[in-house]
Amino acid sequence: MTEGSDAALARLRKCLDGYDADVRLYTTDIAMDDLDEVRAWLKKLAEQGRSRTSYVFTVCELGSDAFIGTVWLRDLNFADGHAELAIMMDGRHLGSGWGTDAQRALLTFAFGTLGLHRVELGVNPANLRAQRSYEKVGFRREAVLRSAWTVNGRPADLVIMGILESEFPMPGDG
Ligand SMILES: CC(C)(COP(=O)(O)OP(=O)(O)OC[C@H]1O[C@@H](n2cnc3c(N)ncnc32)[C@H](O)[C@@H]1OP(=O)(O)O)[C@@H](O)C(=O)NCCC(=O)NCCS
Repeated sequence: MTEGSDAALARLRKCLDGYDADVRLYTTDIAMDDLDEVRAWLKKLAEQGRSRTSYVFTVCELGSDAFIGTVWLRDLNFADGHAELAIMMDGRHLGSGWGTDAQRALLTFAFGTLGLHRVELGVNPANLRAQRSYEKVGFRREAVLRSAWTVNGRPADLVIMGILESEFPMPGDG
C-alpha cells in the first residue's frame, strides 16, 4: 500500500467485491464508501509506516502479484512488545484459507522479525468466520468490551483476542 494513491485505493476497495451486507458490518472501522476518508486513512497508514508504528502488507498467492487481500500490524508498541493485527481479504477469497495463512505469515514477522511478545485484535462478536480463523492460528478469546465501537450508528460490543509469542508455532519448529 502506498500513501493515498489511486492504485492503493483501488486495491483496498477491491476487498469489498463479493462482500455481502453482513461482512461489510465487520469492517466498519474503515468507511470504505467514502473515498476521501479511505484516502486519508491510507495516508495515515503510510505516515504510521514511516514512523514504524504500523506495517501494511498486500496478500498475494505464492508465485503471483495479484492482490487478494491486505493484512496489517498497527499500534506497534516496542516498549511493551505488542501490536494489533487487522485483516481484510478480497471478497472472492473469503473462506478459502488464504486469510488464515496470511495471519500466520504476519505473526511470523511480528514474533520472529520484530521480536514482539503479544499480538491482539478486536472483532465483531457476530463475525464467527473471523473468530474461527483467529482460533485456528492460535488466538485466544480474552474479553468482551461492552459498547466499545460503533456499528450501524450504534454502540456495539467488541471481542478481544490475543496470542503470545510462546503460543505461536514458528515455521520450522517441530
Ligand atoms: C476473517 C478472514 C481474514 C478469515 O480468512 P479466511 O481465509 O476466510 O478463513 P478460513 O477459510 O481459513 O477459515 C474460516 C473458518 O471459519 C469457519 N466458518 C465460516 N463461516 C462460519 C460461521 N458462520 N460460523 C462459524 N464458523 C464459520 C470455516 O468453516 C473455517 O473453519 P474450518 O477451517 O475449521 O472449517 C476473511 O474471511 C475475511 O477477510 N473476512 C472479511 C473481513 C473480516 O471479517 N475481517 C476481520 C475483521 S476483525
